[in-house]
Amino acid sequence: MPQGENARPAPRSTSGAASSDPSATISTVVLAAGEGTRMRSATPKVLHRLAGRPLVEHAVRAAAGTGTDELVVVIGHGRDAVGEHLAEVASDLGRPVLTAVQDQQLGTGHAVSCGLGALADPRRGTVLVSYGDVPLLDTATLTGLLDEHRERGNAVTVLSAVVEDPTGYGRLVRDEAGQVTGIVEQKDATGAQAEIQEINSGVYAFDAAVLSDALERLSTDNAQGELYLTDVLAIARAEGHAVGALVCADTWLVEGVNDRVQLARLGAELNRRLVLDWMRAGVTVTDPASVWLDRDVILDRDVTLEPGVQLRGGTTVGAGALIGPDTTLTGCTVHPGASVVRSHGEGAEVGPGASVGPFAYLRPGAELGERGKVGTFVEVKNSRIGEGSKIPHLTYVGDAEIGEGSNIGAATVFVNYDGVAKHRTVIGSHARTGADNMFVAPVRVGDGAYTAAGSVITQDVPPGAMAVARGRQRNIEGWVARRRPDTAADQAAQQAQERSGSDLTTNPMSDTR
Ligand code: UD1
Ligand code: CA
Repeated sequence: MPQGENARPAPRSTSGAASSDPSATISTVVLAAGEGTRMRSATPKVLHRLAGRPLVEHAVRAAAGTGTDELVVVIGHGRDAVGEHLAEVASDLGRPVLTAVQDQQLGTGHAVSCGLGALADPRRGTVLVSYGDVPLLDTATLTGLLDEHRERGNAVTVLSAVVEDPTGYGRLVRDEAGQVTGIVEQKDATGAQAEIQEINSGVYAFDAAVLSDALERLSTDNAQGELYLTDVLAIARAEGHAVGALVCADTWLVEGVNDRVQLARLGAELNRRLVLDWMRAGVTVTDPASVWLDRDVILDRDVTLEPGVQLRGGTTVGAGALIGPDTTLTGCTVHPGASVVRSHGEGAEVGPGASVGPFAYLRPGAELGERGKVGTFVEVKNSRIGEGSKIPHLTYVGDAEIGEGSNIGAATVFVNYDGVAKHRTVIGSHARTGADNMFVAPVRVGDGAYTAAGSVITQDVPPGAMAVARGRQRNIEGWVARRRPDTAADQAAQQAQERSGSDLTTNPMSDTR
């Protein structure tokens, strides 16, 4: 199962108050109040999506996965939209996600103070701090940080990383013994400090009481005039508390999103990892780079994903199903053994062994039964198609119910809309409807009934009947010779008549079926 953040949380009390050991309480503060100017977007930065989820949701789910007792997100810019999304995530997770508003972005230290204000007891246990714009950070890494923090008996443990280019990051300063003494921001760094390649990821575990006390003592006496959370390290150490760092070897996990270039870069990496995990779990992916998966997609064993496949919004695909090439499915359920080829689907269900495409469009409420077929240039909306029924070509099916084993002729339109309201069409089981039919809803075609090609069906067809609803054919003989003399058509007709030496009524082509 890809991505540890989906794993079951460690068994912990969900309420700090009920925890048997109050010192074991963990509270998480996710910082997400910043504006994200470099995104140049009307959408708050942390609501930009990767793998189907807003950045902040990745952060919240990673934190929730640790089993943290309380979880608070500090919001500011775009607080209404961000708050709204967080409420959805909370209901999805079935746990509270608190929010704290930071009106003015006075620095990361100030942001954490705001967050602590939302906690039941900000001085109790351990406080985990992370960012809302670091989407690849996973539960396993956070749990590793908490474990390290506890095992070392630290007051502060920072998650660091050693990077090729540390520009822009705070640098970890260590003494001769290798002990962390503090963090210095790029803008405050001396030339020598700027050379340091071990950077602050911005993720920390703090002893809650030590953190609260240190936050009281922060100053804005720095290059940016901000309250730096990073100064907590030096303050804690000066007071004799143990301060440490855990180096995160996988630097992707701590990379943040500041602009859309980074958004795409991290999106590609997250996708690469998701696809890799699914391949390891038994999914065949012909061309991993061209397959894009949302994080909440679920794939069974022996699914094959051909090139150009995008699976989004909680799509699930059953064992042995084939998807692609060039197929996008959003919120679809594809049952085992089905195939969906060069098609687009949204909120649809494809039954076991059923086949869709090439070039089909499944819209919300399309339900295709077992071994059913929705073929080429067929659009289906809000319709149930029974087991083994087939709609092979050039057809629109809207607001319909089709029984089992029926066949819908090519180029059929289910005329569901009268310009004001939508109406339903019901086709029974084992019906055979002719090509180029219009079913003008509301209308019913009974079990085992037939309809003639080219019919406009406006009245119910009883079971077993044949409905014919079209003008009768009339042949006007000799018309071309009289009205289009000396044309190529006329010549061809004359030659045909000479060849057959007989009148047209014996020509099999004149048979009016
Ligand atoms: C911060 C760290 C730096 C670290 C880097 C990692 C400080 C002083 N510096 O720098 O050491 O290497 O992160 O990315 O902490 N935020 C708020 N409210 C604020 C300020 C920030 O919510 O008042 C949020 C932002 O939305 C963002 C995060 O905190 O998610 C980091 O803020 P940012 O301004 O990007 O910090 P950096 O200067 O990059
Ligand atoms: Ca940043």
